[in-house]
Amino acid sequence: MTAQLNPRGDVAVLVPAAGAGVRLGPGRPKALRLLAGEPLLVHAVRRLAAAGSVHSIVVAAPAAELDAVRRLLAPVAPVTVVAGGAERQASVAAALAAVPAGPDIVLVHDAARALTPPALVEAVAAAVRAGDDAVIPVLPVVDTVKEVDAAELVLGTVDRSALRAVQTPQGFRREVLTAAHAVAADPLTDDAGLVEKLGVPVRCVPGSEYALKVTRPFDLALAEHLLAAGV
Ligand code: CTP
Ligand code: MG
Repeated sequence: MTAQLNPRGDVAVLVPAAGAGVRLGPGRPKALRLLAGEPLLVHAVRRLAAAGSVHSIVVAAPAAELDAVRRLLAPVAPVTVVAGGAERQASVAAALAAVPAGPDIVLVHDAARALTPPALVEAVAAAVRAGDDAVIPVLPVVDTVKEVDAAELVLGTVDRSALRAVQTPQGFRREVLTAAHAVAADPLTDDAGLVEKLGVPVRCVPGSEYALKVTRPFDLALAEHLLAAGV
């Protein structure tokens, strides 16, 4: 059944989904790889559409797959599909350019984080609504972290208590994200990094284990098990 988005919602979500998925191994672009019989992108969009504040969703898809992605998502939710770029940052910029007038909050969410709970989407949006210009969901780093040199010799042990592993959705006041992308130079792997360069404070909120990014084959297997367990 096609989900309805909220016409009075204040949140637009950009979904970068144009990556190849090199680390997942040979096959279709990652967002189109199957998880329990459905593409990762379908799982991701379904969960976004279930978040009550979402007014619009813009997907940046592989340029060669635009029609396929439109057909796939038509039964899931009303989304705009644009062509992504060579780097994630270019894909986000293309999606940002297609956001309709209205929403004051823009979230950026990796298609690869296919099992992200709608509650996390709402929590990030709520933190922006409450006054932060930029909000990222994070988890503590659980492993001991070493810094190494080019020969894999340990230079030292990093104090992990001050480190955070960063997820998506990352949330921004719309004008802040627009300004950050307008001055962006070197491609970064997340959007908060661009905002940091503007000197805008970035707030951390608790992330979710379920927002894991499907990156390697192990992650796909883990996500299959989580889905089978009812996540
Ligand atoms: N992405 C994108 N455009 C790109 C590169 C990445 O829209 N040019 C998206 C991916 O589709 C993914 C998200 O950004 O949803 C996070 O990127 P990542 O996990 O690195 O995905 P890929 O780049 O596809 O994977 P890999 O780096 O292994 O090739
Ligand atoms: Mg990548």
